[in-house]
Amino acid sequence: MAVQISPSILSADFARLADEAAAVAAVADWLHVDVMDNHFVPNLTLGLPVVESLLKHTTLPLDCHLMITEPDRWAPEYAEAGARNVTIHAEAAHAPVRTLRAIRAAGARAGLAVNPGTAVEPYEDLLPEIDMLLLMTVEPGFGGQHFLDIVLPKLRRARSVLTGQGAAIWLQVDGGVSEETIERCAEAGADVFVAGSAVYDSDDPAHAVQALRAQAERATARAAWTTRGRPG
Ligand code: DX5
Ligand code: ZN
Repeated sequence: MAVQISPSILSADFARLADEAAAVAAVADWLHVDVMDNHFVPNLTLGLPVVESLLKHTTLPLDCHLMITEPDRWAPEYAEAGARNVTIHAEAAHAPVRTLRAIRAAGARAGLAVNPGTAVEPYEDLLPEIDMLLLMTVEPGFGGQHFLDIVLPKLRRARSVLTGQGAAIWLQVDGGVSEETIERCAEAGADVFVAGSAVYDSDDPAHAVQALRAQAERATARAAWTTRGRPG
């Protein structure tokens, strides 16, 4: 199970997005793009035109996280534009099966996100429709918030469900992921790590990505949920 790091440009300089993407292009697996509409979350960021421009200026695959009230309307368009992953929120989707299928039909990976207070169990029947489950480890809307430890039991349960199903679904954490918290996330079962302020508030974003990856890999190797971490 390979560790993947997805730096979030929410903490980058929005006037220099191409440069900010380039700063991590050699070391990151994805570029995480937070789309916020000031309705689903109390913040407004960017939308499809910016994603279309960014696609022309980076080699990194885009990991679009839609924090918007109408994912059914918009998510397929991000996939059609060329985003490699499009994640919708379970709390906002009215027709998640149709939308997740439309994302996949457009050639992207389909992600489903849940807020810290939303349980995964009601959405277990959707697992065949998704390629990644995103567990928010802060209330969505802003970068630089404190990691919510209360999500860790849910992360462990989600990992155990995915292992039990033999599903090749990635498990992403987003919010407050830093050198202080990434090992707890990896040990609990995460394999894709979004990091905004921990990367872009650093003097050396590329080095920050490499350091986070090294920490996550060490923690994954000793984690109980991985084959290598299992006793015997
Ligand atoms: C928050 C966003 C995150 C944000 C994380 O709602 O979904 O992707 O950029 O920022 P940090 O890593 O600073 O918590
Ligand atoms: Zn995000």
